Amino acid sequence: MVHNSMIVVISTFLGLFLLRKYREFKWGYFKNMNSLKGKTYIVTGANSGIGKETARELVKRGACVIMACRNMSLAQIAIDDIRKTVLTGELIAKRLDLASLDSIRTFSSSVIRDFPQINVLINNAGVYVNSKDAVTTRDGFELHFGVNHLGHFLLTNLLLGKLSESQPSRVVTVSSLLMQSGQIDFENLNCEKETVNSLSNMRSNQKYCNSKLANFLFTRELSRRTAESDITALAVCPGFAYTNLFRDSSRKWYQYILFSPIIYFYMRSANQGAQTVVMCAVSDEVGKEHSGQIYRDCKQFHPKLKFTTNPAIEAKLWDVSAEMVGLLLK
Ligand SMILES: NC(=O)c1ccc[n+]([C@@H]2O[C@H](COP(=O)([O-])OP(=O)(O)OC[C@H]3O[C@@H](n4cnc5c(N)ncnc54)[C@H](OP(=O)(O)O)[C@@H]3O)[C@@H](O)[C@H]2O)c1
Repeated sequence: MVHNSMIVVISTFLGLFLLRKYREFKWGYFKNMNSLKGKTYIVTGANSGIGKETARELVKRGACVIMACRNMSLAQIAIDDIRKTVLTGELIAKRLDLASLDSIRTFSSSVIRDFPQINVLINNAGVYVNSKDAVTTRDGFELHFGVNHLGHFLLTNLLLGKLSESQPSRVVTVSSLLMQSGQIDFENLNCEKETVNSLSNMRSNQKYCNSKLANFLFTRELSRRTAESDITALAVCPGFAYTNLFRDSSRKWYQYILFSPIIYFYMRSANQGAQTVVMCAVSDEVGKEHSGQIYRDCKQFHPKLKFTTNPAIEAKLWDVSAEMVGLLLK
């Protein structure tokens, strides 16, 4: 009897373990270890989560990685941690606060001045804030739209000349599956018109979803605007990964128990989340002909958007964003 129970328990655990391994196999793993020596990558938000693991994977292959972080102490802690196991390549921390247009301009100028080439820009940094109150960037933009979209929009535009000089080059922008629930309301891009009947009644993360949709539409328009050059624009859904992104979301103890099966089967490690990002930044199998596409699980992904988009909307988002960050005024 005891013997039979043991067999049932062991078989159950083995089954769950194998199911997890099967899921990990489906998520994909970028195994190519070709040398990236002599190539320079910028990774925004490289001190934590997917950005840090992306930086780790790139230096493993000998790359020079500019870790664009808002907090220099956290950047140094991340470098020290990576250096415990990886001694190749170069890690350079530089200050970049995507919630400040001034900081983005200062960062871009110093990168353009100090580095002869930038081969790949990885727009990874992101915020997810649950607050129902308006939270804004230093320039007064709604935080998610301001950091996740506008910050990377300005950064990319300021570095476009450098990326063009460094061709073939790439811009990889980290979006999310949640972009499928996003919407772009040109009358309320910055959520100024938030009323009881609009955004505050939607899911608490609607602003995040919108910003992640903007990441994807930005990639599509960037691919059009760089069609004549050898710059490739790609977007990535990294998958649900164990990082600091949801640090602001407090959960009750019983929610952890309720969600544990979901976490076991769906949550990747930060390194597993970084695999598609690294693949898009590095792989020879992803090329110019894929520009404007989005990737997930180390393969092309076809999102099911609730929002109907087309090239005119994507171009309009670009123009409006340029105006918001003062790009046309330069
Ligand atoms: N984790 C997931 O399940 C998941 C799923 C889909 C998509 N994503 C996307 O993956 C990307 C990476 O997120 P993560 O999961 O790795 O989260 P994370 O561990 O919280 O990392 C986010 C990074 O962005 C940085 N950041 C935030 N605001 C910034 C600002 N104003 N200026 C510069 N850097 C800033 C953070 O810096 P600090 O450490 O100083 O805060 C941190 O380095 C994000 O774009 C996120 O939307 C994540």
